Amino acid sequence: MVKHRWFNSMLLSACLVLLPGCSNTAQPSLYQRLGAEPGIATLVDGLLFEIEHDQRIVHHFADTDIGRFRAMLAEQLCDLTGGPCQYSGSTMQQSHTGFNISLADYDALVAGLINVMQRQQISIADQNALLALLAPMYKDISYR
Ligand code: HEM
Repeated sequence: MVKHRWFNSMLLSACLVLLPGCSNTAQPSLYQRLGAEPGIATLVDGLLFEIEHDQRIVHHFADTDIGRFRAMLAEQLCDLTGGPCQYSGSTMQQSHTGFNISLADYDALVAGLINVMQRQQISIADQNALLALLAPMYKDISYR
């Protein structure tokens, strides 16, 4: 029993000294690395600007309630990146069906997002981490 306690305390000490990851100093989530709520709001507003100025895709949003889109996208990004939100919008399939969104449209929107992340000076690693979370969605959003 005593030996067991000694081993545990040695393990804890090693953990604290050698491996900061073992202690309570957890790595910041992607949500935090993106600047938390204000960072994501700026990201979404930047993306709206990119969409508005992209003649390849802006027509898809002609009848969209932009206020809702803005709020839902921010909530979704917060949820996806480990923030304190729960996405309450429609599924990607529900919200994009009928818009005839091509893979080229999808790429155009993602290119816009990359522009915004560059402007916000988000590190390449964090840009890639966000893109990796979004990439699997293309099959529910675009028809090819
Ligand atoms: C990673 C890519 C994308 C994500 C994460 C995403 C996310 C979202 C979200 C969260 C909504 C709101 C859903 C709701 O109202 O409940 C939405 C709606 C919408 N998205 Fe996307 N989207 C993506 C790609 C695209 C692309 C490529 C297009 C077109 C070029 C597009 C066009 C639209 C439109 C038009 C709406 C509004 C639908 C409506 O008016 O009801 N999205 N999207």
